[in-house]
Amino acid sequence: MTAAALSKTDAERVRVTLGARSYDIVIGAGVLDGLGAGVAALGARTVGVVTDENVAATAHLPRALASLRDAGLVAKAVTVAAGERSKGFATLAEVVDGLLAARIERGDVVVALGGGVVGDLAGFAAAILRRGVRCVQVPTSLLAQVDSSVGGKTGINSPRGKNLIGAFHQPSLVLADTDTLDTLPEREFRAGYAEVVKYGLIDQPDFFSWLEANHAAVFAGGPARTRAIATSCRAKAAVVARDELESGDRALLNLGHTFGHALEAEVAYDGGRLVHGEGVAIGMAMAFRFSAALGLCPRDDAARVERHLAAAGLPVSPKAVPGPLGGAEALFRHMQQDKKVERGRLTFILARGVGQSFVARDVDPDKALDFLRDELV
Ligand code: GLY
Repeated sequence: MTAAALSKTDAERVRVTLGARSYDIVIGAGVLDGLGAGVAALGARTVGVVTDENVAATAHLPRALASLRDAGLVAKAVTVAAGERSKGFATLAEVVDGLLAARIERGDVVVALGGGVVGDLAGFAAAILRRGVRCVQVPTSLLAQVDSSVGGKTGINSPRGKNLIGAFHQPSLVLADTDTLDTLPEREFRAGYAEVVKYGLIDQPDFFSWLEANHAAVFAGGPARTRAIATSCRAKAAVVARDELESGDRALLNLGHTFGHALEAEVAYDGGRLVHGEGVAIGMAMAFRFSAALGLCPRDDAARVERHLAAAGLPVSPKAVPGPLGGAEALFRHMQQDKKVERGRLTFILARGVGQSFVARDVDPDKALDFLRDELV
C-alpha cells in the first residue's frame, strides 16, 4: 500500500486553504503507508524523519522509513528523547545538526513523526534549516492530529514560558493515521480529547452535542473517531484560513489555554501531575465559569461543559491537580507571560454559551484575580 493509502476511500481529506501554501490533511486508518508517495509528489529526494525514542520503539518509524524508501527516497531518522524537555534550544541544535548531517537540501523534506513535541520541534527545525525547507507532519497522538500538526505553529519553550520561541511554518502535507492512536496510553488519548471538545465549544455547538452523545464511540475507535478528528481539523482549518498569523480570530483556538498554561507552568511542566490536555480541560471549564461569573454566559452552559469533560474522565478544577499549587497571584503571574498579552493587557477567550466563544481584550485584572482566588478555595 503506497499511493493507495493516500486515496483510500475511507480516508477523509481536509484542505487548509492558504493560497500558495494550501495543503491537505489526510485522516484515516493506514494513511502512514502513503507517506512515501506523498513526499515523492513534493519533489524531494532526501528526507529527514524526526521522531522521539517512544515512537522509534513502535512499528511507526520502520513503516515510515519503508514507505519513503519504497518510493525511491533516501530517508534518515533523527531521534530525540521523548517529552517536553526536548522542546528547547539544546535538542533543537541536535535536530538541525542531524538534518544537516543527513544532507537535507533546500528542496528536500523534514518529516515530523510523533506527538506535539516532535511536531513543534521538527517543524521549527524545518523553518530555520537552510532558511526554510518543507515539512510533512505525521502526528501520532490525538492532540497532535486535531491541533498541533495543523496550522503551522512551530517552536520551542523558554525557561520563561511555553512556546515563546518559534515561527509560523505551514506543513506541505499532514497525514493523520488513526491506527497510531490504538497504542496511545489512555491518559494521553483522553488529554487529546480535550482539544476535540474545544472545537465544539468555540463555534460548533452541534459538534459538542454530537460528542456528548458519541464520546464513548470516539474513545472506542472506528468511524466515530475518524469523524471527530476530521471535524476538528475542518474547524481548525477554517480558523487558520481566515487568520493564519493570529492577529484576530485564531486566538479562539486558545480557549482554555490561558488558565491551562498557567497551571502547567505552576507544576513546572511535570507531566506526572498535569499534561497539556488536562490543563486545557481545566482551563476550558474555568473559562466558562469565569464567563458565567462575569454575567456573560448562562451558568447552565458552564455546568454542561463541566459535565461533558468529567464524563470523558477529564479534570475540571485546578483543585484536581495533585500536589500543592501556588496561590491566585502565582497563577496570575504565569498568565502575564502568555503570548496573547498585549501592552501588559491579558487576553481571555470567554464564551456567551456553548459554541459561542469570543476574544475578550478588556477584562478587569482584579476580576480575574478574584475569580482565581474563588477557584482555589
Ligand atoms: N494551538 C493553537 C493554534 O494553532 O493556534
